[in-house]
Amino acid sequence: MSSDSAITAETAQRPRLRIPAHIGMIMDGNGRWAKARGKLRTEGHIEGVKALRNLVELCINYGVANLTVFSFSSENWTRPRDEIAFIFNLLRRFVASDLQKLIRNNVKVRIIGSRTGLEPSLTRLIDDVEAKTATNTGLTLIVAFNYGGKAEITDATRLIAREVAAGRLNPDDITEATVERALYTHGIPDPDLIIRTSGEQRISNFLLWQAAYSEFVFVDEYWPDFDEASFLRVLETFSLRDRRYGGIEAKTP
Ligand code: FPP
Repeated sequence: MSSDSAITAETAQRPRLRIPAHIGMIMDGNGRWAKARGKLRTEGHIEGVKALRNLVELCINYGVANLTVFSFSSENWTRPRDEIAFIFNLLRRFVASDLQKLIRNNVKVRIIGSRTGLEPSLTRLIDDVEAKTATNTGLTLIVAFNYGGKAEITDATRLIAREVAAGRLNPDDITEATVERALYTHGIPDPDLIIRTSGEQRISNFLLWQAAYSEFVFVDEYWPDFDEASFLRVLETFSLRDRRYGGIEAKTP
């Protein structure tokens, strides 16, 4: 058998890739990646940014319309102050180094999460990135920063309660669509697929409302090691899933 026909046979066994319209990514394991190499945790975070850049390119190349990455959770405030400052600076550095490239690649950036507790300079930076990419029509990159799913639902509840208190909304008219409009992710379809790296199998307060019918794929590699081969393996797993949304027949997204 020639090597060409071997490749064909291998390809034939692969499922036809279904490309999710929205991928949620829990980037986990930067610290353990660093520890395993005798490096500082911060070096793991620097490698984590490289893996994020790579994933953005993969999503563009494979036609994923929306990518949400969990980059700082509202629970991450319990980390040492130095590490928090480092991660905040990573966001600044990521914007400084990658914004022009994101614009060139037609990427629209949205940063979701609570603005409470963020320095005004960081809030301005977030507003600036969103404004500069707002009219882009390619990949929507949603960065969950200072984000917690319970806080998001609580904030949405407060918004809705204000509407009711002001007499603009009748409680009997509240539907799932009312809640969706009040979430940070309004206008973005729910994730079809949520991936978590590093072998952990938890949702950790990520997109709690939006994950109602997401497929979950957990991979063992630490986040900095997540590459194109990992991405394709996950897409193959996703492509074989039978999505029924509580019904009997499988539906394609
Ligand atoms: C996960 O590893 C990493 C984080 C929760 C924060 C850092 C995220 C990045 C570097 C990606 C890009 C970020 C920005 C702001 C653009 P961990 O520290 O939880 O690892 P561990 O579980 O092994 O300790």
